[in-house]
Parts: sequence; C-alpha cells; structure tokens
Amino acid sequence: MDCYGVIGYPIKHSVSPAMHNAAFRRLGIDAIYLAFEVRPESLRDAVFGAKALGIRGLNVTIPHKEEILKFVKPVGIAAKIGAVNTVVVDRLEGHNTDAYGAMKALENAGVGVEGKTALLVGAGGAARAIAFALVENGATVIVTNRTESKGLKLVEDVRKSGECIFYPYDRLEELKGKIDIIINATPLGMKGFESKLPVPEGLVDDVVVFDTVYNPMETLLISLAKRRGCRVVYGIDMLVFQGAEAFRLWLDVDPPVDVMKKAAIDALKLK
Ligand SMILES: NC(=O)c1ccc[n+]([C@@H]2O[C@H](COP(=O)([O-])OP(=O)(O)OC[C@H]3O[C@@H](n4cnc5c(N)ncnc54)[C@H](OP(=O)(O)O)[C@@H]3O)[C@@H](O)[C@H]2O)c1
Repeated sequence: MDCYGVIGYPIKHSVSPAMHNAAFRRLGIDAIYLAFEVRPESLRDAVFGAKALGIRGLNVTIPHKEEILKFVKPVGIAAKIGAVNTVVVDRLEGHNTDAYGAMKALENAGVGVEGKTALLVGAGGAARAIAFALVENGATVIVTNRTESKGLKLVEDVRKSGECIFYPYDRLEELKGKIDIIINATPLGMKGFESKLPVPEGLVDDVVVFDTVYNPMETLLISLAKRRGCRVVYGIDMLVFQGAEAFRLWLDVDPPVDVMKKAAIDALKLK
C-alpha cells in the first residue's frame, strides 16, 4: 500500500485526508493519505524521514509552506511564489497547486482573468500564490493588506512578473467602479474568526467575488455578493482543485474531482 499525507501544525482541521482517501477508493488505488502533525523544529526530519519511509507524496500547510524550500527544489510557479504546498517525495520536488487551484476555481465559474483588474485582500501565503497566478494569466492585481509593509513586499515581488500595485486598506472605497474581481485571501469570515467583511460593502457591486475562505462555504462576503447579483467563486473549489492537481502530480492519473469535492464538504460538516 502506498502512503501519502499532509504535514502542518496544527493539522486537525485538514479535510485533505477525506478528499484524497475518497479519490483512492473511487479509483481502486491501494493507498492511504494521513495527516501528520509536524512541529516547525521537526520539518527537516519529517521531509527526509518521509523520503526514507517511501512516502510518495506530501501536501504542506501552515506554517511550513515557505520553510520547506530549504529541503525541496521548487518547480514552476512555486519558485516565483516562494512557497510549496505539494511535494513529490522521491524527487524532493516542490510544487504550488494553490495557484492552480485558484485559477481553476475562477475558470470553473466561467471567469476569465486576462485583461481584468483584481483587488486582492491579504498578503499571506494564499494571497501570494493567487497574485502570481493572476499576473501570469494577464490580470492586473491591486493588493491591499492590513499590515501595509507586508502588502508592499508582495507587490514588489509580483511586479517582476506583471502588473501589480498596492492600495491602502482604509481607502478601498475609492476603487468603486475600477475593479472587476474581488478576492478575499484573509481569514475574515472563517468559522471561529471575526465575522466581518474584508472590503467595504459598497465595493460589492457589479464585480466577481471570490472568497478563499471555505468554512463556512457561504461566508458573509459570498452571501452579500449573491444578494447583489454578483457572480461568486467558492473557496471550496480552490481547495478541491489544488488537491486534485496534487493527486495528478503524484499519480499521473485524472483525479475524480466531484468525489473529492463531496468528501471535502462532508468532512467540513464534521469540523
Ligand atoms: N480555499 C483554499 O484552498 C485556501 C487555501 C489557503 C488559504 N485559504 C484561506 O485564506 C486565508 C489566508 O490564508 P494564508 O495561508 O494566506 O494565511 P496567512 O499567511 O496567515 O495570511 C493571513 C492574511 O490575512 C490578513 N488578516 C488576518 N487577520 C486579519 C484581520 N482581522 N483583518 C484584516 N486582515 C487580516 C493578514 O494580514 P496581516 O499581514 O496584517 O497580518 C494576512 O495578509 C485562510 O484563512 C483560508 O481561509 C484558502
């Protein structure tokens, strides 16, 4: 039996085991996917230990996505982003399927980004992946972030690849009518977190709204966007597509995306 897994700290909240094990079952693959709680100081041992044990694939989540670059070789957009969420263990090769997952979620909702202007709220790991993916696909990105210095650093990095500017978090009203897509890449709206809109209410008008938060699926932002008749893109789709792409990278087979999505939604109900 082949073994796959996800490493993070904490890791209890992860729905990746449910998603991948459901895919293995559906395809009749003799494999198991486990969640491993790995403390920051044990990351090196975990990576090389996984290789020694013959674990075939790892997903990587908070707080290891950047630190793991010390131990794996980033491939493709992961090198630009400077973060890895998927490792092909035998080659110690690091990929970033968050970027792919976000673009695929938009595409799946019928949203093309080329020539569009996207307001991206946040400058953490998720925002970084999305910003690089957007500019690579021909969008202009406006980054805003509570901590301005972090937002400015992201903009500085992304500008090497495409059009990207910073806008202060307290002046977002001024962007009304100037943006096509709003993307929330902060935890605002997440279960157990502040139930607050990440952008001024007035901006949610005649725009596509993509909330990367997936628990709950219907966030405050998504509900408002729907009431206003905006097209919405769900965080759960980004989650499922990033997982599906990792599955494809490890196994070189087409992942059963619908099965993975159902398993993820069922698992979230239990969290
Ligand atoms: N759908 C998916 O597949 C997927 C994947 C990854 C993440 N996500 C979502 O994205 C969120 C961010 O993840 P991450 O990995 O990027 O986390 P992260 O690296 O910790 O970054 C968090 C970001 O949110 C901002 N933030 C935190 N609390 C805030 C508040 N109260 N008000 C305004 N801004 C706030 C932070 O701003 P400061 O710089 O000021 O601290 C930072 O920019 C997660 O909570 C999750 O919901 C979804």
